[in-house]
Amino acid sequence: MCGIVGYIGTNEAYPVLIKGLHRLEYRGYDSAGVAIVGPDAGLNVFKAKGRVADLEAFCKSKNISGTIGIAHTRWATHGEPSNINAHPHYSQSETLALIHNGIIENYAVLKKELALNGYTFQSSTDTEVLVQLIEYIKVSNKVDICTAVQLALEQVVGAYAIAVIEKGNPDLIIAARKSSPLVVGIGDDAFFLASDATPIIEYTNQVVYLEDEEIAIIRRNKPLKVVSIGNVEKTHEIIRLEMNLSQLEKGGYPHFMLKEIFEQPRTLRDCMRGRINVELTNVVLSGIIDNKEKFLNARRILILACGTSWHAGLIGEYLLEEFCRIPVEVEYSSEFRYRNPIIYPDDIVIAISQSGETADTLAAIELAKEAGAFVYGICNVVGSSIPRNTHSGSYTHVGPEIGVASTKAFTAQALVLTLMALCIGREKKTISEERFLKLLSEINNIPDKIELILQSNDSIKTLSNIFTYAHNFIYLGRGYSYPVAMEGALKLKEISYIHAEGYPAAEMKHGPIALIDNEMPVVVIATNNGAYDKMISNIQEIKARNGRVVAIANKDDTMVKAIADYVIEIPETEECLDPLLSTIPLQLLSYHIAVNKQRDVDMPRNLAKSVTVE
Ligand code: G6P
Repeated sequence: MCGIVGYIGTNEAYPVLIKGLHRLEYRGYDSAGVAIVGPDAGLNVFKAKGRVADLEAFCKSKNISGTIGIAHTRWATHGEPSNINAHPHYSQSETLALIHNGIIENYAVLKKELALNGYTFQSSTDTEVLVQLIEYIKVSNKVDICTAVQLALEQVVGAYAIAVIEKGNPDLIIAARKSSPLVVGIGDDAFFLASDATPIIEYTNQVVYLEDEEIAIIRRNKPLKVVSIGNVEKTHEIIRLEMNLSQLEKGGYPHFMLKEIFEQPRTLRDCMRGRINVELTNVVLSGIIDNKEKFLNARRILILACGTSWHAGLIGEYLLEEFCRIPVEVEYSSEFRYRNPIIYPDDIVIAISQSGETADTLAAIELAKEAGAFVYGICNVVGSSIPRNTHSGSYTHVGPEIGVASTKAFTAQALVLTLMALCIGREKKTISEERFLKLLSEINNIPDKIELILQSNDSIKTLSNIFTYAHNFIYLGRGYSYPVAMEGALKLKEISYIHAEGYPAAEMKHGPIALIDNEMPVVVIATNNGAYDKMISNIQEIKARNGRVVAIANKDDTMVKAIADYVIEIPETEECLDPLLSTIPLQLLSYHIAVNKQRDVDMPRNLAKSVTVE
């Protein structure tokens, strides 16, 4: 949450900073700001409530020249979204400006002490406390800015990625991180700083990912220097990024979300490339093979995740139990870390995260590692914190996902879990060779089948018109379709703000059925699998109460078509692969309803894509 950008080089900083903020807007978008040291060495801060576009409008008449600057797009934690609470924050004497992503947990104590020393505060943020503390230390200890940052951070409890610039010093940015991500880009005659690599990639593909409690000293025309908070110089590895710019553009689609939904045939092919051999006889996930004994001897698998990734985790539970016969528990990372969970040293923990930065999942991983468990990450963002803090893992390889509502990352997470289950199941001999080969061959057909579903986009759009003004939705599924029902409901909530509940279909009778009347749309996943007959009964029960049924059913189905009000057809597949197909029409339905309601599909209110605070 919150996006950070910085630049120092030979060009004007402002255009680089604004473009970078646009790229990071998915991380938060309630206010934004820039700080620039001008040619006269003055320090100017401009900020505005609202989107980055509002900041740009505000800056039109301002003096934004200068070749060094920092910028921030905010997702409020302490203090409402407002001009005053927006970052950068000035220190008391307005000689320092600071941006921050994270939470300073002990800000209240620090604020009290600073107030006793004559400091006053304009905003309600924890961030302003940090910049005041740095100034206080700098002045009272008569030290340079870097030392002041180090001494201040020694007093800080919490998570931070920060950048500071100073009046009268057009040649230096100090940046530091703990628990929140920060990447330094190294150009020919410039340095870039950002929360992830997306603002950097169009200028350079050489980056350094800062580690926890590292400070980057970024100086004009001098090599990057990285030190610890205790001022020990650290070596840093320069990584070459593989990302390309077109992945960050909408490519002719009106929204990133629609682009990302349509990318799924390709992203799933990318995800399986190199993992399934061309003869369709073997699955190799190097992270599993390299740690084969651990997986073969696992007492239990714990899957930890948040949001959409947690729904993928539920699919993983069904897959791993079915094909590997290992007991699996799926938990929200936030719940796991704050209870007193039992973790055995021979447990395997699978942490799933698109961003690789979710604070609760990172903290849950630490807990599992402390207890001696082996931790395997399934992440999308290459080089992010979770892959760097797990023992092994598999990337989903879907490229940057920019729409805040996750789509292509979810299907790829489900696919990786499927491949994992097959890979482990075969090693354990808990899956027959015949079934293994049949599933592999069908996995290979999935991208083509998704292409077919995407051809229904126009009819799903037409269907969406009927439900634009619904106030509530219920989504029902059984078995592998139950997590899909929950994911379908979450998608609708996230981007259309319509209340929706995903439920296991049989549980309908234990509560949700009371909600059903002729105004209640019920989306039912009724594909031809083991629970088909039961789903038909559920549809009958809904119809008997005048509910309006939108069914996801297979092409040749006749029974569902005879009783449901509306049917979206999808091709048939193996039951365990059904989520990879049935999810697609639900993504499209949510998308079109949200567009009809004129919602900001890619940046829904109050949400952020990367939840780096607890
Ligand atoms: C936020 C995003 C969701 C995402 C969840 C978990 O809520 O808006 O799309 O599923 O975080 O994020 P992760 O990056 O860990 O998958």
